[in-house]
Amino acid sequence: MDFKMMTCFVLVILTACDAIPRDLSGKMFIFPREGNFLYVRKAIRQNFHAVTVCLRSVTDLARGHTPFSLSTIYSSNAFVISWNAADKVMELYVDGRKTEYRGLDYKLSAWHSVCTTWNAQSGLLQLWFDGQRLMKKTSTSGIIRGPFAIVVGQREKYYGKGYSMEHSFVGLMSDVHMWDSILSDCDIQKYMNELKFPPGNVLNWTEMDVEIAEGVVVEDKFTACT
Ligand SMILES: *[C@@H]1O[C@H](CO)[C@@H](O)[C@H](O)[C@H]1NC(C)=O
Repeated sequence: MDFKMMTCFVLVILTACDAIPRDLSGKMFIFPREGNFLYVRKAIRQNFHAVTVCLRSVTDLARGHTPFSLSTIYSSNAFVISWNAADKVMELYVDGRKTEYRGLDYKLSAWHSVCTTWNAQSGLLQLWFDGQRLMKKTSTSGIIRGPFAIVVGQREKYYGKGYSMEHSFVGLMSDVHMWDSILSDCDIQKYMNELKFPPGNVLNWTEMDVEIAEGVVVEDKFTACT
C-alpha cells in the first residue's frame, strides 16, 4: 500500500467518507480499463432492515463482473449484484447467501437497468431487469449490520482489504441509487422507464457524496448537438 492509498484509507475510516456531494444527473461513470483500483466508494454506519439498489450499466466484458457490492468486516458479500458469465447467471448476495436468476437477456454493449429489493423480515429478494419484474426468491432473513463499505465497480474482498481483479467492472454506469427501504413497484417502474422517482436516501445520484478513485471518469451521458 503506498502512502497516498494509506492516507485515503485512513481518511475514509476517520471521516466516514465526507466527500463533497456532486449532482450527477445526466452523467455517468466511465470505468475505462481493468484494474483493482478503479472504484467508487462510500462508508456507512447504519444497519439495514431492507434494501433497494438500482443502477444502469453497459459493458462488453466477456468475463463475470460485479457492478455493485456492499461489504462489512465480516462479509465481502453483504449485498452484491454480480454477473456470472460462465453460467450466464445474475448472482445476488445478501449477507453472504447467494440467489441466482437465470435466463436474462444480458447482452453485451447494451444498457441494462437493474433493481434489486430485499426485506429482512421475510428474507425475500426480488430482481427487476430491463423493466421486467422477476419472481421473488428466498434469501437471508434478519438485519444486516454495518459498518459497510459500498463499492461500485469492484467486489471488495473484505471491508477495506482490497479488491479482486477478476470481478472488476469495465464500462459505463449511471443512475446508481440505494435506499434503506423497499421501493414500490410503481417507483421501480418509473426508474426503469427513466421517469421521475424518489432518489435513494443511502446513495443519491443527484447528491453523490462518494469517493471516486482516480481513473474513474465522470462525463455527460448524452451530448446535445445543435
Ligand atoms: C437527493 O438529492 C437531492 C438533490 O440534492 C435532494 O433534493 C434530495 O432531498 C435527496 N434525497 C434524499 C432522499 O436524500
